[in-house]
Amino acid sequence: MDKNAEIAAKHREYLLPSQMMYFKEPIAFERGEGHYLYDVEGRQYLDFFGGIVTVSVGHCNPDVTEKVVNQYRTLQHTSTLFPNRQIVNLAEKLAEITPGRLQQSFFTSSGSEANETAVMLAKTYTGRSEMLALRHSYSGRTALAQSLCGTGTWRINEPNATSVKHAHNAYCYRCPFGKEYPSCDMQCVTDVKELIATTTGGEIAGMIAEPIQGVGGFITPPKEYFKELIKIIHDAGGVFIADQVQTGWGRTGGKWFGIQQWGVEPDMITSAKGMANGLPIGWTIATPEVASSIKKGIHLATFGGNPVTTTGAMATIEYIEKHDLLTNATETGAYLRNQLEGLQERHPIIGDVRGMGLMQAMEFVTDRKTKEPAIPQTQQILEALKDEGLLMGKGGLHGNVIRMSPPLTIGKTEVDDAIGRVDRALTKAVTAK
Ligand SMILES: Cc1ncc(COP(=O)(O)O)c(C=O)c1O
Repeated sequence: MDKNAEIAAKHREYLLPSQMMYFKEPIAFERGEGHYLYDVEGRQYLDFFGGIVTVSVGHCNPDVTEKVVNQYRTLQHTSTLFPNRQIVNLAEKLAEITPGRLQQSFFTSSGSEANETAVMLAKTYTGRSEMLALRHSYSGRTALAQSLCGTGTWRINEPNATSVKHAHNAYCYRCPFGKEYPSCDMQCVTDVKELIATTTGGEIAGMIAEPIQGVGGFITPPKEYFKELIKIIHDAGGVFIADQVQTGWGRTGGKWFGIQQWGVEPDMITSAKGMANGLPIGWTIATPEVASSIKKGIHLATFGGNPVTTTGAMATIEYIEKHDLLTNATETGAYLRNQLEGLQERHPIIGDVRGMGLMQAMEFVTDRKTKEPAIPQTQQILEALKDEGLLMGKGGLHGNVIRMSPPLTIGKTEVDDAIGRVDRALTKAVTAK
């Protein structure tokens, strides 16, 4: 048995089996360096998924690692009961780079907790309890986050918050109303008024949405979408939470946060994943009036604002700034998109190419006319990519989307390399009519 198989066997025996592993023969990684991962047998993989949209500035980035290790040697834990330099400096920086009047932060250890915090604040601020979320969304694995989740395959048991209603999303490739943008007049947005009127008491606490739906398969709404959506939420007296767990930290190109691409100011932002290049951190930021709405009860997070993870986040932000990775995400992202559209011309199985910046996806179909999801074929493609030594993510309600979110440090050379490997993998796999 090779070492990968040995580790996967132990994983199956001692870890919850609900934790799915990629590939028929899962890979056990031993080492990461820049854009590459190495498995326990020493095989190299080009990482175009960035460890689930998390490795923003490359694996074991030397600048970030050095700062984190120094901090680890100096002070590891105090809890939120004591202020520390790292947490306040990071919070100040985040108030500076976030849009609008977002100012006060709360740190946790995961995206799920970040979303829990935001919904708690939406409820305390408005004094209401009903929340809206989007279909095809993912919000995390806590009970509330599961209730917000709009993707059936990711909902375990029966999520228990009955106060969440799910709006149709702006999935233009598969419009829920069978229309086409822009002649659709964005019925997915106007329908939210109907959703509020018919499925809630009319007084909502707010809505949470990902600017680009990650697990949903990088579904990217039209440019007017969030302006109109947020107006409806505000008119109904609710607040708008932008879940930036996947779309933060420059990933969409040119701006720190994906929601800024739509020219709007959310009432809260949540994030995690790429914020500290892989260290466990969750973050919620709100306007001062929303942030100060918790009037009773003491609120703490044992690991929240840990000096090590906040140092990691600050080091990641500084690295992105120093190397102008926001511009790189725009430029290399545009190049990647162009190459993917080139592949689409040659491979009929690619029904749609979508995304923004260094967050791009291909949706696979068996027939471009019927748009039948190419489900087993996508699995074959993923396996063929593995054989090529290239890692990408799977997504979409039917698992027929391949997602790309490489470290923001990649350049055209890595894109050309990846595109060559994708081309060969697609040629090997089943093609559409
Ligand atoms: C958009 C979004 N929100 C929230 C989460 C939950 O984050 P975590 O897994 O850190 O709890 C995820 C995780 O994939 C996510 O993609």
